[in-house]
Amino acid sequence: MTIIDTLGPGSTLVGDYKIIRVLGSGGFGNTYLAVDHNLSREVAIKEFFPRDIAFREDQTTVSIKSPKFKDNFKWGLDRFVQEAKLLAKFRHPNIVRVFRTFEANHTSYIVLDYVRGPNVEAWLQRLKRRPTQQELDELVAPLTDALALLHEAKVLHRDIKPANICIREETGDPVLLDFGASKYSMSEMTGTTAAIVSRGYSPYEAYASDSKQQGAWTDIYALGATLYRALTDGPPPEATERLLNDTIVPLRSQPLQGLRPEFLAAVDWALTVQPRARPQSITEWQPRLLAGNEEATRSWQARRLQGSGSYVGESSGTPSKATVRMSESAGARPSRHRSVALALVLLLVLGGGALAMWQIQEQQRQEIRRQDEARRYNEAEAQRLAEARRQAEEDARRGNEASKAEEDARRRTDLKRAEEEARRAEEEARRQAKKAAAEEERQAAARAAAAKAEQEEAERAERQAKKREQQEQREAKASAEPDERPRRRESKRESERRPRSYQGSASQRPASSGAGGGTPQMQGIR
Ligand SMILES: Nc1ncnc2c1ncn2[C@@H]1O[C@H](COP(=O)(O)OP(=O)(O)O)[C@@H](O)[C@H]1O
Ligand SMILES: [Mg+2]
Repeated sequence: MTIIDTLGPGSTLVGDYKIIRVLGSGGFGNTYLAVDHNLSREVAIKEFFPRDIAFREDQTTVSIKSPKFKDNFKWGLDRFVQEAKLLAKFRHPNIVRVFRTFEANHTSYIVLDYVRGPNVEAWLQRLKRRPTQQELDELVAPLTDALALLHEAKVLHRDIKPANICIREETGDPVLLDFGASKYSMSEMTGTTAAIVSRGYSPYEAYASDSKQQGAWTDIYALGATLYRALTDGPPPEATERLLNDTIVPLRSQPLQGLRPEFLAAVDWALTVQPRARPQSITEWQPRLLAGNEEATRSWQARRLQGSGSYVGESSGTPSKATVRMSESAGARPSRHRSVALALVLLLVLGGGALAMWQIQEQQRQEIRRQDEARRYNEAEAQRLAEARRQAEEDARRGNEASKAEEDARRRTDLKRAEEEARRAEEEARRQAKKAAAEEERQAAARAAAAKAEQEEAERAERQAKKREQQEQREAKASAEPDERPRRRESKRESERRPRSYQGSASQRPASSGAGGGTPQMQGIR
């Protein structure tokens, strides 16, 4: 069975509106593009549909999933309508206009001005390049202006991100949509924090159950994160992660050319993790963002004055600074009579204002009481859940203990085996090293013996060469005296032939015979 969460195209609502298509579908509601038959114009319609506790019967009627959600649904529904009524009091070109609310299909609807044009996320994706400083200023100046107006009236947006800002096709104006306040109230009631935080865009105080920690600085962080995303590929790391280990790369330390350093520093300032260290108000932040571009600020202001203007309705009781700024800049200078009349009217208004103020305070007191009750209920529910979870964990722990012991024993055996293997491998390595050393020693000895033999061989060869040389020298000498030896032999024979008496001693022999020379006479006797 398919679960249909949204109304189909062609469905009609209270006879006046025909659904064209779904624009978005979140945890707390659906947004449709529709046509208003009476005025023949396109409108956006938001439908209260908290997915966790509601479902759609017969493709239209909204029902709760269990009777126990009845109060939660009713409470959320009231807040949804209340927030719409609050939003309807703002007239600002950069805050989406609320036309009306109505009930149908057992839920409530808000009819909004349809902003034709992409949301900032789609615009950035289509741009395929980094936006210029001028393009960013054209977003920042009007958006901070709209936020200042909201904050003066003590209203927070609570869900600023690129998908919740549309850029009006005709004028290029950014328009703030999807105020998270009613979602926030609803999540406080049901304890579903995840649905109201937008990863990367929500500061960490948005995760806390205590909404008292939230203020202008919460929206300032989210707008800072939106600008960070516009200049880099994505939003900053999620705030809860940043709290433990902040890995954000500040814009000032990124290679971003053509952007004012003051602007980058102002965005980094807005993205400070600690709420108290951030700009505390738009009045504090905006001048830093636009520092160095007074012209852009002026031209924006002029454009705004030509447009529909801006003011807070009865919600703040007094005219906002923006209203005052507007009337002053418009150059309206009343005459004396008109001043008196205005003073009288003002007195009356102040009287009525005091009454209205008292009523508002009373409403606020009631609201606080309701919230306290809801919180108490949530706390009790959370405690019950925690107890159930603890019990389940305890059971699981017990069940797991036996298999855990087995697992531990197996792990210990594995460890022992691994240690034994390591020891064996070490021993083997030692043995191999020893063997290699012995082999090395043997080879060195062989090398030394071979060297010695070679040397001896060389010496022997040298000795032989010397001998040969001496022999040759001797032979050369001998061949230089060829007759000497026969002559010597001759003289010897002659002396043998001579009688003994003629034989003198060696000293009596003629000197020539001793010299091996011999005379021609002696040669003739032979
Ligand atoms: N008034 C509007 N005009 C034009 N588009 C809108 C309007 N309201 C919402 N949208 C589009 O529908 C999307 C979802 O609507 P949104 O109000 O943000 O609800 P949620 O985020 O809770 O689903 C927005 O991102 C935007 O693109
Ligand atoms: Mg949205």
